[in-house]
Amino acid sequence: MNDFAKHLTYKNRINFGSFYTPKKYVDIVKMWMHVYAINGQWTIMDPSCGYGAFFQLKEEYKDNRYIGNDIDSVAIKKAKGYFPFVEYFNNNLFTNTQRKNYKIKENEKLIIVGNPPYNDVTSQAHQNIKKESIEMDKDIQTRDYGMTSMLAYNKLKADYVIILHPLSYLIKKANYNSCIKFFNNYNLIEHIIFNSQEFANTSKTMGFPIIVAMYKRNENKGITYNDILNKQFRTIEGESFIINGRDYVCKYIKKYPNNDRYEQEILFYTMRDINALKRSRTFIKNRESNAVDVDPSKLSFYCYVDCFKKFAETPYYMGNFDVPFIYNEFKSIEDDVLKISKYEHQDIFGKQKDSPKIESINKVKNYINKVLEY
Ligand SMILES: C[S@@+](CC[C@H](N)C(=O)[O-])C[C@H]1O[C@@H](n2cnc3c(N)ncnc32)[C@H](O)[C@@H]1O
Repeated sequence: MNDFAKHLTYKNRINFGSFYTPKKYVDIVKMWMHVYAINGQWTIMDPSCGYGAFFQLKEEYKDNRYIGNDIDSVAIKKAKGYFPFVEYFNNNLFTNTQRKNYKIKENEKLIIVGNPPYNDVTSQAHQNIKKESIEMDKDIQTRDYGMTSMLAYNKLKADYVIILHPLSYLIKKANYNSCIKFFNNYNLIEHIIFNSQEFANTSKTMGFPIIVAMYKRNENKGITYNDILNKQFRTIEGESFIINGRDYVCKYIKKYPNNDRYEQEILFYTMRDINALKRSRTFIKNRESNAVDVDPSKLSFYCYVDCFKKFAETPYYMGNFDVPFIYNEFKSIEDDVLKISKYEHQDIFGKQKDSPKIESINKVKNYINKVLEY
């Protein structure tokens, strides 16, 4: 079976968030289900099933009831061809989200699997393409279809939820808060992180971390944001990281526009995460809505961010992190980052006589490498 929605144009794939799951991740889900002794008594539902990649679970789980749903009737037609044993629905998951609309009994043991559509309706990426929006009930409305899907799974009271979703839903505080009704009721019991570029046809965009996550329902005793900050995450490449295990430069400077003004006006573009930094500008000449006023006594920190953008080769799984650094060792490169950024942005800092020395550049690069390996 082909891995992606062949019947959709690139524009519609973005609109429906229709990037289909590679088989190897379905196999990981299969393995976890073994570990947790899931047997034939469980109903397995993919509420946004596309062509039905997850129904390959049938190879292992032969006696289960399977339910598929997708808003896209053409995808459902395809799925029916591949997986005729599934009971299909063609509903919008985001309205009237109730078990009875999918013929599931209140006491039925339910596992939700799948790969919800990710389509942040406010994000900068693909802004020219994302136009249409799907109707959502107020109680599960968010700015992203994937986060709304998480709230829908909570409404369906699935006992287990085994899905792929952007790691940013967990690690970015604002996203975590949008999904709080889900996280309050679910614990993360298994996971692995991989690069979004593994999805067919998404290599045009910058890779971001996706987590394959197995959640178990535990009402009002779910995962807290503090648990997430201290959790050891693992990637498919065998790396691991803890968010609280590093220091971040944003702790010491302002990331977002505010009312602070200084005699010497230096402006910096709003700082979001590392992936956003790679796409955006750093020092800017003109005041605009995204401009942050730089406190001149902290200029070197901003120059460090500028150098980080220029030199850092960041692994994909750090794409949603703030810019990391090591405070105690920063003094050793402070003059170097100032020199490099001032030379790089002479339109802002005025004409600079000397270009930065190669030793300066190497010192900064070494510091950044150390920060990344930390
Ligand atoms: C990322 S694809 C995943 C497909 C499949 N689960 C897989 O893993 O290969 C997301 C799917 O969500 C569907 N979708 C988007 N919005 C939906 C909604 N409101 N209700 C149901 N399905 C929706 C899209 O049509 C698309 O097929």
